[in-house]
Amino acid sequence: MNLFDVYPLFDIAIDKGLGCKVWDDKGQEYLDLYGGHAVISVGHAHPHYVEAISNQVAKLGFYSNSVQNPLQKELARRLGKACGYEDYQLFLINSGAEANENAMKLASFYNGRTRILSIEKAFHGRTSLAVEATANPKIIAPINANGHVTYLPINDIEAWKAEIEKDDVCACIIECIQGVGGIRMVEADFLQQLKTICEAHNTVLICDEIQCGYGRSGKFFAHQHLGVKPDMITVAKGICNGFPMGGVLISPKFTPIYGQLGTTFGGNHLGCAGALAVLDIIEQENLVDNAAKVGAYLIDALKQMQKENSHIVDVRGEGLMIGVELDIPYKEPRTRLIKEQHCFTGCSGTNVIRLLPPLCLSMDQAKDFIERFKAVI
Ligand SMILES: Cc1ncc(COP(=O)(O)O)c(C=O)c1O
Repeated sequence: MNLFDVYPLFDIAIDKGLGCKVWDDKGQEYLDLYGGHAVISVGHAHPHYVEAISNQVAKLGFYSNSVQNPLQKELARRLGKACGYEDYQLFLINSGAEANENAMKLASFYNGRTRILSIEKAFHGRTSLAVEATANPKIIAPINANGHVTYLPINDIEAWKAEIEKDDVCACIIECIQGVGGIRMVEADFLQQLKTICEAHNTVLICDEIQCGYGRSGKFFAHQHLGVKPDMITVAKGICNGFPMGGVLISPKFTPIYGQLGTTFGGNHLGCAGALAVLDIIEQENLVDNAAKVGAYLIDALKQMQKENSHIVDVRGEGLMIGVELDIPYKEPRTRLIKEQHCFTGCSGTNVIRLLPPLCLSMDQAKDFIERFKAVI
């Protein structure tokens, strides 16, 4: 059997990793400014994470959601404390798309409505309603094009207000820093006004923190830069450093009903043990502060580069979620970064290089990256 060939691949097989470095199967070392697409939060093969996962799998990897799972309760308690949402409730699933799917489903159960507002260029996943909320017609299959979603310009409060005032909008779903959309940032004034309008019209505000959350922006959640508390927050990617896991943080105004949401694998023992280890490491190594500090250095250094290099059109981002917009396609410099400089980065659209390193990136590694980047641009 062949693989279903949907990914354009680099001809490189990554074999092992440690911290912010990975090695291919020929032993070549790479600096990882991509984190396997913003997934590696605490660094590759962190010993505490490896130990926690290994011990748990040796004891019990999985049992169903029909019995008590103290690890889930502990994860909810620890996550609530780490992010400052101790009064919220946690529902655990296996991926980002599932997190958004469940958040929008719960919003619809809550207010009985079926319309979603999403930002132009948004990415929320590839399952049914999550893909419909993703502003990319190429990946919305006819069966998913059900007319639930209106895409609106980022930060254009009048456009959002006009829709919400129709009193039929179920939920607004927002990435406060758009990832796939090219590191476009939601403004504080917009989000604060949006929250007020949503509250007045019984519309649910969902922040998709799957890429920009879990410390990446230099605060636990990106929306915490903007002074707003959403009704639901979706997380995945960094929550378990590569083990598939997602979650929805749900405000106390939503009452759980037995059977309304559910999953086989979500919140399994192995994932919870890994996610608890991730929170230990984030706390012990001050990784949120590190993301703020090293990210500020990188943004500053890249802006300096912009003054000297006409190919750099814009530098955007917060913490360790950074976009460098070029006046040329990203393809050549990104490929040269990998092939000649042995450094992985992400990308967006046609001309944005996206940096999404593990949150433990050191200042020396950040400086090293700037030198490697200078060599290809
Ligand atoms: C902001 C955002 N939401 C949702 C998703 C979907 O997550 P997953 O691929 O785990 O379903 C992604 C994935 O890149 C994302 O960046």
